[in-house]
Amino acid sequence: MARLDPHSYADDTQPKVVSLDWEARVDFPSRTLEAAATLTLAAAAKVGPLDLDSRGLEITSISDDRGDAVPFTLAASEPILGARLSLSLGEGVRSVTIRYRTAPDASALQWLEPAQTAGGVQPYLFSQCQAIHARSVVPLQDTPSRRITYNAALTVPAALRALMAAGFVAREVSGDVAVERWSMPQPLAPYLFAFAVGDLASRELGTRSRVWAEPSVVDGAAWEFAEMDSMLAAGEALFGPYAWERFDILVMPPSFPFGGMENPRLTFVTPTLLAKDRSQVRVIAHELAHAWTGNLVTNANAEHFWLNEGWTRYAEIRITEMVEGPDVAALLAAICRRNLDETVERFLREGHGGLTRLRTHLTGIDPDEVFSVVPYDKGELFLRTIELEVGRQRFDAFAKRYLDTFRFGAVTTEAFLAFTEGELPGVLARVGAPRWVDGEGVPEGAPVARSARLDAVEQMGDALPPADTDLSSTEWNLWLERLPRPISREFCSALDQRFPFTATGNMEVKVAWLRVALASGYDAVLPEVERVLTTVGRMKYLVPLYTGLLERTETAELARSIFARAAAGYHPIACAVLKARLAKPPPPR
Ligand code: BES
Ligand code: ZN
Repeated sequence: MARLDPHSYADDTQPKVVSLDWEARVDFPSRTLEAAATLTLAAAAKVGPLDLDSRGLEITSISDDRGDAVPFTLAASEPILGARLSLSLGEGVRSVTIRYRTAPDASALQWLEPAQTAGGVQPYLFSQCQAIHARSVVPLQDTPSRRITYNAALTVPAALRALMAAGFVAREVSGDVAVERWSMPQPLAPYLFAFAVGDLASRELGTRSRVWAEPSVVDGAAWEFAEMDSMLAAGEALFGPYAWERFDILVMPPSFPFGGMENPRLTFVTPTLLAKDRSQVRVIAHELAHAWTGNLVTNANAEHFWLNEGWTRYAEIRITEMVEGPDVAALLAAICRRNLDETVERFLREGHGGLTRLRTHLTGIDPDEVFSVVPYDKGELFLRTIELEVGRQRFDAFAKRYLDTFRFGAVTTEAFLAFTEGELPGVLARVGAPRWVDGEGVPEGAPVARSARLDAVEQMGDALPPADTDLSSTEWNLWLERLPRPISREFCSALDQRFPFTATGNMEVKVAWLRVALASGYDAVLPEVERVLTTVGRMKYLVPLYTGLLERTETAELARSIFARAAAGYHPIACAVLKARLAKPPPPR
């Protein structure tokens, strides 16, 4: 046996599943999918086992392409990996059909009551499979090193639309149900399998893009993301032709746990991006960049996650530079650096130095629980260091060859290093690559972004800014992040009166402010903290706000009581991550 991935039962010596035909009936009352998955193998099987990943699936029957029953065993469920579904294949089998039902608490799915949507009338369902949740929806080899193409038919209530991160084929209504057919001809890693069902409308954004959202949200979304064509052009200039035909965006309900998820052809984003100032399009730049760095060239498993996110952060900043100019890109880089330093400092303080390396060791560790900005921003700095060493022109040519070489494939850190040494001989030694890849913390001499606007924000210091200070939300965000903490309550109150941070619709600014206020014991913000925690599900905001409450004994109990009330509305991933955080004793300050 040769495991491909510490988070999968997939075995290198067994047949490869290369395509999926999936039929599923969405049943809102029971919160289950009744489904059939036909898995086709790359070649006719020899007699032997086929191990699949599954979680919470109730298997009804398994048959092969000759109609014969396939013997199988479903092992007991492991906490992180789920249950190994082991099939005994007969000679010459080309495909197997597994009939099953998903669990009501499937980790990839969130079932929303109408009250949890913008419209308030129809229910909503969406999937989020990264990193290892696809197995709770489809039994398969759930590792990024095994790609599949797929066809799907989703049966949903006729009042709703189903969307998939795939190409649309047809919608057929019969009576009170609709069957929506989708097809994905480009092979993708299983974590990119994605769909959503709800009351959805769309607006055109550009030649290859439209935005989908609930009807009351869609016009605001179309305004916010109007710059799609220039962003696609920037991505293609940087990395070559876009391989996925369309780039559509789906604005999710507020409980979506991430800022964005790069599901191919249909990026999912949080509604907190709708800041009414187009300031959050960097998240779109990021998810778009994944079309190349992540979806086309994919990390072989979660231990090499930095190859997905470090490259993509690098591309996000480059695209921002092209679309919004070097000043804005430098501000973004500075915000990223602050978050990185804060995270590295916390990991080192808490004895998790291993999580500050680019190459990680995750056997027995749940990828959701160790998610952090390290692979993003340390990865970005490593690539930026290489860029500075060889010059932008050579780096850009190198990036294109990297993407070309590993196109529709999976990469490990080792493969990346070997490729880089071949293309740019000597560069790894010159930049001290081992310190980046296997060393802890951020190496000395890491590049620092500079710009006039960044200097201006830094020169504001920690004094109360004049009332007519006119900054972009990114600049406010950075200024707030740089404030020492605690600051005095009088200062908090003066800031709060002068600038509308508590009331702003820009969540980046709001949360940066609420964190300063919480750390300073300025309790006037508590109602707003509670409002955010009970209406927004994006973990990037939940985790720091809960942490801020937990860090002071006066507010720790409030954190627990808010969580007890709000948990039912959180996504299963957010719920698990927050539960772990709340269980930990508050870190010393
Ligand atoms: N692929 C990630 C989200 C993700 C990572 C989901 C790991 C599950 C497991 C996505 O591309 C991402 O990085 N989103 C960021 C946006 C950003 C860095 C601009 C987020 O959600 O905040
Ligand atoms: Zn990403």
